[in-house]
Amino acid sequence: MTSESPQARSARATRKDDHVRLASEQQSEAPRRTDFDDLEFIHHALGGTNPERVDLSVRLGEWTWPTPFYVNGMTGGTDTTAAINRNLAIAAAETGLPMACGSMSVALDDSDAAKGFTIIREENPNGFVMANLGAGRSAEDARRAVDLLQADALQIHINPVQETAMSEGTRDFSEWAHGLEQIVASCPVPVIVKEVGFGLSRRTLELMASIDVRFADVSGAGGTDFLRIENDRAGAEGFSMLTGFGQSALACLLDSPVQGPVLLASGGVRNPYDVVKALACGARAVGVAGAFLQAVLDGGADRLVDVVNTWQSQTRALFALLGTETAEDLTRTDLLTRGRLGEFCRLRGINVEELSRRSGS
Ligand code: FNR
Repeated sequence: MTSESPQARSARATRKDDHVRLASEQQSEAPRRTDFDDLEFIHHALGGTNPERVDLSVRLGEWTWPTPFYVNGMTGGTDTTAAINRNLAIAAAETGLPMACGSMSVALDDSDAAKGFTIIREENPNGFVMANLGAGRSAEDARRAVDLLQADALQIHINPVQETAMSEGTRDFSEWAHGLEQIVASCPVPVIVKEVGFGLSRRTLELMASIDVRFADVSGAGGTDFLRIENDRAGAEGFSMLTGFGQSALACLLDSPVQGPVLLASGGVRNPYDVVKALACGARAVGVAGAFLQAVLDGGADRLVDVVNTWQSQTRALFALLGTETAEDLTRTDLLTRGRLGEFCRLRGINVEELSRRSGS
């Protein structure tokens, strides 16, 4: 076990609390136009179906999740963030949502910090829970993180843009792919590799497939902006010149390889319409971080339960409007890619005409 100095420990705790505070500030800003706004469905006015026929459950490999969205990895390790995890876990238990925690590296070194994560299992003993670690950690650490939470899956985050912008971040990414391969090979539960808001390119997804990564969350740009969060923390030493770096979730999904990991999507999901759009572009489930964090900060677990209930019934209504009974049906809807997203598709040689006529009409 690595032992951390008291100073390093306190800096890490401050960073966790800063992330929550700065992410929450971004949630209260005026809405920005994102790639989700550049995707439209062709409206077929007589094509709808009965919401009672809609099945919101999704299948990912051996798992069946009751809803097509889940609580994405965020936090843990300080008193403030332990309380957030507790509320997220209570809401997840009540609504059946799968839930991930934030990076558990602090929990591996410090048993007090570990309580801010194990609270998730205590509050949600039977739910689907995902552990979370960074790509630089060892396969042994990955196993310990899974054990600590009795996790059903392990998220491994790859965050090179964030690390670059963090003054205390790592700059050497050369061993990450190899380390990832070792984690995947020996992890007792399936590994979901994710970005933290800058997207996973086609090449990255192909590389992941070659090292047997079965699940990837493209976590694209346009939502919680970790470059801005780290720039706000770093002040003059920040990397604001990278503003706008990375691809959105929808761009990543549309550009993804045919043979690759099962795709999840996140990054800037604001409402059930965004969920449906990501599913239509090929995501099998959709992760939400910033928006669900804000619900918990505004009104605790009860507020998040209300939000999730509303999202569930609105998602069902949107499926019916679009004439789809399952998430898979959405992959045959007609999509128009406009604006920035449309330009990305054209530059990458994606057949946008075909996307607009997928239903055959
Ligand atoms: C995150 N995210 C994150 N991801 C991860 O894999 N490990 C982590 O420790 C964290 N920490 C974290 C803290 C906070 C406060 C937030 C809001 C988010 C990233 C998250 O899972 C997701 O990839 C991005 O936030 C993009 O999704 P949203 O926020 O736009 O829905």
